[in-house]
Amino acid sequence: MNNKYDLIYEGKAKKVFSHDDADKVIIEFKDDATAFNALKKAKFEGKGKLNCLISAKIFKLLINNNIPTHFLELYNENTMIAQKIKVIPLEVVLRNTAYGSLCKQTTIKSGTVFAKPLIDFYLKNDELNDPLITKDRIELMKILSSNDLNLIIELTLKINAILKIFFKKIGLQLVDFKLEFGYDYKNKILLGDEISPDNCRLWDVNKENGTIVSLDKDRFRNDLGDLMEAYAEINRRINDSTEFNP
Ligand code: TMP
Ligand code: ASP
Repeated sequence: MNNKYDLIYEGKAKKVFSHDDADKVIIEFKDDATAFNALKKAKFEGKGKLNCLISAKIFKLLINNNIPTHFLELYNENTMIAQKIKVIPLEVVLRNTAYGSLCKQTTIKSGTVFAKPLIDFYLKNDELNDPLITKDRIELMKILSSNDLNLIIELTLKINAILKIFFKKIGLQLVDFKLEFGYDYKNKILLGDEISPDNCRLWDVNKENGTIVSLDKDRFRNDLGDLMEAYAEINRRINDSTEFNP
């Protein structure tokens, strides 16, 4: 990144820099991949660029569907300009299909498709290992008012409806995903963070024999290999989609 900008924050997968306009930030997507609260780490050259390009396209799709997001524009291939937000310390996970931690913590069978999506909240706190928390605990901790919590649930369900249809069109099953939200300078809630194969589970299901190929970070989490090929495939399908080629 151009060193005229100050580094405000560095996370596991992104760096946030100041912008000339105090209400904006520049977000750089890193090539680092982590899993299990960074117990597992690796670098994949070009991952930052792919996640940035994929996120930019997905944010555009959501903005076109009236979802308020922090995304403003791409700055270059691995950086984007976004509205500065005060991040709400919650990971909002929506699940359409049972997989991952849900199946480790419950008796729900992996691959179960839900009639109604399940929304889980996790406290963003590395020291506590991002614990699963309840709505009542969120209100008790004054992380969100009941109104804002309901607004976030409503937005998450709308985002799911848009993304599920979009990914289906490009031959992918949207299993689950994680969102983060924040408040802008007008105290309006915006979708923040990123939407990429790092925080979505995307399955390419073979129609004939039902075989599942994960095209997301599970390739790294579960040592399946070919992570960059999977991310490049997602990027290619998004770019080729009718949504972006009207
Ligand atoms: P989980 O099954 O491990 O709870 O993950 C659910 C979804 O949330 C999956 O799409 C991966 C995403 N996720 C993140 O983006 N960041 C995280 O720290 C975790 C644990 C999951
Ligand atoms: N982002 C998480 C981490 O390393 C984990 C994950 O995505 O599975 O900490």
